[in-house]
Amino acid sequence: MAGSIVLFGPPGAGKGTQATRIVELTGKPQVSTGDMLRAAVSAGTELGIEAKGYMDSGHLVPDQVIIGLIEERLMEPDATNGVLFDGFPRTVPQAEALASITQVSAVISIEVPDGDIVDRIVGRRMDPDTGDIYNISFKPPPPEIEHRLIQRKDDTEETVRNRLETYHEQTEPLGSWYGSRGLLIPVDGCGTIAEVGDAVTSAVINL
Ligand code: AP5
Repeated sequence: MAGSIVLFGPPGAGKGTQATRIVELTGKPQVSTGDMLRAAVSAGTELGIEAKGYMDSGHLVPDQVIIGLIEERLMEPDATNGVLFDGFPRTVPQAEALASITQVSAVISIEVPDGDIVDRIVGRRMDPDTGDIYNISFKPPPPEIEHRLIQRKDDTEETVRNRLETYHEQTEPLGSWYGSRGLLIPVDGCGTIAEVGDAVTSAVINL
């Protein structure tokens, strides 16, 4: 399939979890702005220093910073046939900028109510060696790797509430923006990880 796919949804909806499956099905590389920003924060780059305060408080990094990051990423050779965006775009100006640089073929929207989000995010643990995502309640890690798992700094109950507020104010309107362009494919994100994965798979194979 030509063009890029956008994985859309609130924080903790399961975008990162389901991205692996879409990458396997389509061969498109995953481009996660959250992962790119966290790498910049860890490396202590100028971008990372600027982004850290926004991320730790659950606010969005300014559009011009994110758009510059994406323009650079799309110039890499593996992006020629489109990519899988995870966590981008998050505002209408980001979506407008994206539309001017590449073709978006579909937007898969993982829909989860706020009530389910807090437990998912507060229970999330990441494996820094493999990038795998676990959850202490919903996807427990194997005991032998528990010692090396990390918790994201913005995965606290207080920050999650800010992230949800930011999502509803600035990102959710993008759903209707893409819907009016005939690109939005809603997927129920409330089942188990496997059930949501099956729904995402059937959305992708029907593209
Ligand atoms: P980012 O890293 O993009 O965070 P996010 O959008 O808040 O999304 P998450 O990574 O928290 O959740 P996810 O949907 O990937 O869920 P996951 O699969 O891990 O952004 C972080 C920050 O960077 C932002 O706040 C902002 O400051 C900045 N930023 C990034 N992009 C930006 C942009 N474009 N513009 C401006 N600023 C930007 O799953 C979550 C947990 O739930 C896991 O533990 C998982 O195991 C579990 N889980 C998954 N599916 C299920 C299920 N079906 N049932 C039960 N548990 C499940």
